[in-house]
Amino acid sequence: MNKKIAVIKGDGIGPEVVTEAMKVLDKTAEKFGHSFEYDQLLMGGCSIDANGVPLTDETIEKAKAADAVLMGSIGGNTATSPWYKLPADKRPEAGLLKLRKSLNLFANLRPALLYGELKDACPLKAEIAERGFDMMIMRELTGGLYFGARKTEEVDGIVTATDTLTYNENEIRRIAVRAFDIAMKRRKKVTSVDKANVLDSSRLWRKIVEEVAKDYPEVSYEHMLVDNCAMQLVKDPAQFDVVLTENMFGDILSDEASMITGSIGMLASASLNDTKFGLYEPSGGSAPDIAGQNKANPIATILSAAMLLRYSFDMDKEADAVEAAVAKVLKDGYRTGDIMSEGMKLVSCSEMGDVIAANI
Ligand code: IPM
Ligand code: MG
Repeated sequence: MNKKIAVIKGDGIGPEVVTEAMKVLDKTAEKFGHSFEYDQLLMGGCSIDANGVPLTDETIEKAKAADAVLMGSIGGNTATSPWYKLPADKRPEAGLLKLRKSLNLFANLRPALLYGELKDACPLKAEIAERGFDMMIMRELTGGLYFGARKTEEVDGIVTATDTLTYNENEIRRIAVRAFDIAMKRRKKVTSVDKANVLDSSRLWRKIVEEVAKDYPEVSYEHMLVDNCAMQLVKDPAQFDVVLTENMFGDILSDEASMITGSIGMLASASLNDTKFGLYEPSGGSAPDIAGQNKANPIATILSAAMLLRYSFDMDKEADAVEAAVAKVLKDGYRTGDIMSEGMKLVSCSEMGDVIAANI
């Protein structure tokens, strides 16, 4: 198959990790008789430097014209980078949020699983790591606090900032349906996470999830409060299959989930709309402290490329091959610095890409 992939390398470690994912995609194309054509686009800090804005209309149009988007990461050091002297709507992150919204990418899938070989890198107690875990965090991505009205104003001489958390029933229903659909292909369990003891938006969330659940009699589901979920993730992560939650809770819980996999450098993600189109990016950030040093872990980006093959191109065999290659190199003892443990072989970002590509 001939496919066109828009590539946004972005900032920080983005260019390094995406280069390795493209290496693996090219090897996969060669093995399976496909051809992938790349259209490299700017977004984030690099777009601010080149165009004065974090995301241009041209980038949005070109992304839409592709079959899928592969992305690295965007943003810099918020304390020192000149990008953070700009007004909030001109900063790198504003570009990413606008892109998610423009492409209607409401369903964010973040699979967190503990590879047997990485049990030593897992910060949890050995008896918990021993049981392993394999969960899919389903984060709503185009609503909630991220997109509600916000303002900073003076009220009676006191500076006051407001953000609003709004969800309508349709936004909740479409992500809940996705979560139950995905649960049907996994262990058939959904944990819907909210703060229904405090928030109206969470009470509506619960009601709609219950309605959707009726169409999936085979899937067991439960509601869990977000603070309890944060605790359960480190106490007993094996209990989770699909974790369904709103935008902000999903942002926080997915970082927590990534850490117990050994490193944020391991967590892939897919952001999907209601077609086959999607944007695929590692869940971690741009890590400006190690950028340009060929030290970053490219595995999350390579696994995101595998999700791209599976969800946007229906290339299941190819995606399996990429995931198997990752598992194989971990088994063979190759480690980047973030997941290094005694007796393993420390490799650079590009060497990790090389060994994974060689195993396709
Ligand atoms: C993520 C990131 C983004 C988010 C930032 C960069 C805006 O943390 O993808 O999890 O909060 O969604
Ligand atoms: Mg985040």
